[in-house]
Amino acid sequence: MSSNTPDIVTPASAGNFRGYHQSQPADIDEEIARVGSGTSGGEYLRCFWHPVFITSELGDLPQAIKILGEELVLFRYSGDKLGLVHKYCPHRRASLEYGRCEDRGIRCCYHGWLFAPDGEILETPGEAPDAEPAKVVRERTRLGAYPVIEYKGLIFAYMGPPDQMPEFPVYDVLEIEDMTNRPYKAPYTCNWIQVLDAIMDPVHTTFLHSQNSHPQFSEGMSEIGELKFYERNENHFLGSSTRRVDDNAWVRMNELILPNFTQAGSAFAADGTQSRYFGRSCFTRWVVPVDDENSIAYAWANFGERGDPHQYNTKEGCELIEQGEVLDRSPEEKQRYPADSEAVEGMGSISTHKGENLMPTDRGISLYRRRIRQQIKDLKQGERPPQPWRHGENSVRTYGQDTVLNLSPKDGENDRKYLAEIGAAVMDMQFQYEEQGNEARDAAIIEKLKDIETNGIS
Ligand code: FES
Ligand SMILES: [Fe+2]
Repeated sequence: MSSNTPDIVTPASAGNFRGYHQSQPADIDEEIARVGSGTSGGEYLRCFWHPVFITSELGDLPQAIKILGEELVLFRYSGDKLGLVHKYCPHRRASLEYGRCEDRGIRCCYHGWLFAPDGEILETPGEAPDAEPAKVVRERTRLGAYPVIEYKGLIFAYMGPPDQMPEFPVYDVLEIEDMTNRPYKAPYTCNWIQVLDAIMDPVHTTFLHSQNSHPQFSEGMSEIGELKFYERNENHFLGSSTRRVDDNAWVRMNELILPNFTQAGSAFAADGTQSRYFGRSCFTRWVVPVDDENSIAYAWANFGERGDPHQYNTKEGCELIEQGEVLDRSPEEKQRYPADSEAVEGMGSISTHKGENLMPTDRGISLYRRRIRQQIKDLKQGERPPQPWRHGENSVRTYGQDTVLNLSPKDGENDRKYLAEIGAAVMDMQFQYEEQGNEARDAAIIEKLKDIETNGIS
């Protein structure tokens, strides 16, 4: 052949090129990807409390937000109390984003109707007070409103049926003495499921965050650990990854409580080189759907001895904890060093899950998606999904953590097998102390971990 003849493709080899046969896009996963009112996934998500805003970002003006596909307005009344209502005034649809915050609620800018935080129409000042149509509308019509709770700098809302409102859950990591919990948020321009998946995908840490994009967290994460997945109480999923770092065994635990609560180990405090006993998650985080094609991670970043170092207690530090890079970077830098945003937003606004090829390392993802599907089905039959489990008066027990034990490889033994045994022992042991109070439970776990380090796995 002459040197300017195109190479590679010949009629005989053209059959290997499957672009044409695969050019139809795969379907999206309608059942779990849609979040709007009345959709399967949307009704399921409306069974839970979700964070919807950061308290310090709400000033004296109403704030338009979108959550679960609904356009809403968050506002303060009577100084520091909070209200969350549908955006459009039931008179003639003016936006309450332009309303006025007052002592008793929010007043529409257009004709001055005043609404209580529960949506009651308190005043229709343009109408004669005893005019029948105005009386009827005040009695029979309400502005849509949702209950909200402010807790440690985040504002949570419950958007489901009012008679089914669950208890507001409080988590153990928020009750650790000396831990600073700083609220942060990270927006994603894609469906919530593809953001959520990463928490049950410990292998992406090895590739995306380490081998591909220079170590965005610690060097030790560049090894694939021994993986193990657990499901507990039908809504709590755990993925452990146990790695060898010199003479240490590093057990890192990611967790998901359905539908969208996530924790992991630390981002920067643990690298496997130093002993660590039940260090807690660097974030306590929810992946909240804005609509079908956008989501926001609302979270606390956790700083202190058991979390990440205080030096990361900045806006940029929180972004590094969230995804290994700051959010605002040049397109070139994003291509050279992609982080979670690039990985999950790059799939498109709603990933076509039906075109995936899930592998054994994706087991955590298969497990949790299957459980969501089951719970959606049950909900359609009238059975509501479980709320985060807690024992008695204790806060919700969580397991996101790092433990680094000085357990060197055993002569003549398969070290991968040994690491898997260490990971399993650390996890199983953690489940033993759930009935104790926070401090007693932590102390018992830490003591037992030190015992494993000294005496080996019993
Ligand atoms: S549109 Fe709100 S009071 Fe008229
Ligand atoms: Fe990640």
